[in-house]
Amino acid sequence: MNDTVETKAYPALPSTPEHVGIIMDGNGRWAKQRGLPRLAGHRAGVENLRRILRAAVELDVPILTLFAFSTENWKRPSREVQGLLRLLAESLNKEVDELHENGVQLRHIGKLDPLSDTLKKNIREAVELTRHNDRLIANIAFNYGGRREIVECIRTLIQQGIPAEEVTEEVISEHLYTAGLPDPDLIIRTSGEMRVSNFLIWQGAYAEYYVSSVYWPDFDKDEFYKALEAFNGRQRRFGGLPAQSATEA
Ligand code: IPE
Ligand code: IPE
Ligand code: MG
Repeated sequence: MNDTVETKAYPALPSTPEHVGIIMDGNGRWAKQRGLPRLAGHRAGVENLRRILRAAVELDVPILTLFAFSTENWKRPSREVQGLLRLLAESLNKEVDELHENGVQLRHIGKLDPLSDTLKKNIREAVELTRHNDRLIANIAFNYGGRREIVECIRTLIQQGIPAEEVTEEVISEHLYTAGLPDPDLIIRTSGEMRVSNFLIWQGAYAEYYVSSVYWPDFDKDEFYKALEAFNGRQRRFGGLPAQSATEA
């Protein structure tokens, strides 16, 4: 994470989101544009993830949740799915020590069940190794689906015998994969698609959305900063009224 020299200034913004979610989309189109196989796009996407983790630290974003593989992505051709699993295994082996040295706390959200025993073990070890780091929380959503997450939460509540009247929004939040983390303030989607594709559907209820037309492998620190600037221009109301109008009534 320390391998580039900072050249450009990024003035501090009045407010920085505490938690940013990113739907890292567009790897396939990035590759197609270059006449490359889709997997080359995914490889470039992983490279970019390293850059964005570094940029998050530099731009003072403390929590990132990164959508890497959805519960629906198993529908893709097995070659691509296998390639993505291989890339995950490879990057864990290659990057974990450096991420640890740089104070990154790695977490995983989603279901590990269908992954191989080795991959599951490597993910658990990476999470365990980095659990006390506090420079950046990087939450990797792999085999993640928002609906699946809610179904699991409901099952857990029923199994625990929680009475219906005790089921509140707080109780649900505490039983999601993101328990203990604040809801995302900002959700970025790259590659121009205007949909959530099952990402943080509960937690994102009041997130600000930002869509960049840039494909994920090209989404660099400049683009990230633009998203943070746009976030600063938003007026968050959470269903209420802006401070001034509230007093006018
Ligand atoms: C995002 O890129 C990565 C995953 C969903 C695994 P895509 O693979 O969806 O790229 P496009 O949308 O086809 O360009
Ligand atoms: C969402 O992208 C999932 C990830 C980025 C991991 P997709 O490419 O799978 O979403 P759709 O199919 O365009 O909605
Ligand atoms: Mg896509």
